[in-house]
Amino acid sequence: MAIALGPEVRGRLVVLEGIDGCGKSTQLQALAAWLPQSGLMPPGAELLVTREPGGTPLGQALRQLLLHPPAGAAPHSTAELLLYAADRAQHVQQRLEPALAAGHWVLSDRYSGSTAAYQGHGRGLSLELIAQLEQIATGGLQPDLTLWLDLPLAEATRRRGARQGGDQPDRIEAAGEAFLQRVHQGFAALAAQRGWQPIAADLLPDQVSAACRQALRQRWGS
Ligand code: TYD
Repeated sequence: MAIALGPEVRGRLVVLEGIDGCGKSTQLQALAAWLPQSGLMPPGAELLVTREPGGTPLGQALRQLLLHPPAGAAPHSTAELLLYAADRAQHVQQRLEPALAAGHWVLSDRYSGSTAAYQGHGRGLSLELIAQLEQIATGGLQPDLTLWLDLPLAEATRRRGARQGGDQPDRIEAAGEAFLQRVHQGFAALAAQRGWQPIAADLLPDQVSAACRQALRQRWGS
């Protein structure tokens, strides 16, 4: 007879949000290295590190279409909204839900808050419609903790310029400063509404990492 393993413990979903150039990728890597040996995750739980758009094979194809479309194929804002939602629906069903149901933890570079910030506040699409679409795409899956890397737009712009060197910005980054300013303000509003944890990101990377770790310890440490 199979041995009963006791009640299933669901995993945790941790999300990083913020404007382009806020240092999210660096912080995600640092958290991904620290979290499994932090003592916060239960024994046997693994860490899935993922991102939106592009956390599944379908999502990688959508990411390419969204950020680097061939000439003449750039999506209209409503099509853009639906493509991000399609990426998310696939991500939730193929990767996030199975991992969480198995008790694993997930660290995601962006989630539904990015759609509210970029397509809602940035592009000016209906926030009410976006909330309905979010419900469809996520099936109601909410992050357990969202860290918002809060960086003034001027500093984010400076960092993107320094990072990119000769590279072309992607389609979203190329949408202009006024757009990114609305996105930034959108993130600030969402952080207040949704209870996200703001992290001051205009510090040295190690200091930002320490603040991220502290936020996770506060949430789950004993
Ligand atoms: P990201 O992977 O963070 O960019 P980078 O490769 O520069 O680190 O995000 C890709 C872009 O997609 C970013 O400009 C934000 C945008 N985006 C949206 O507009 N809506 C969304 O729902 C998501 C998830 C991302």
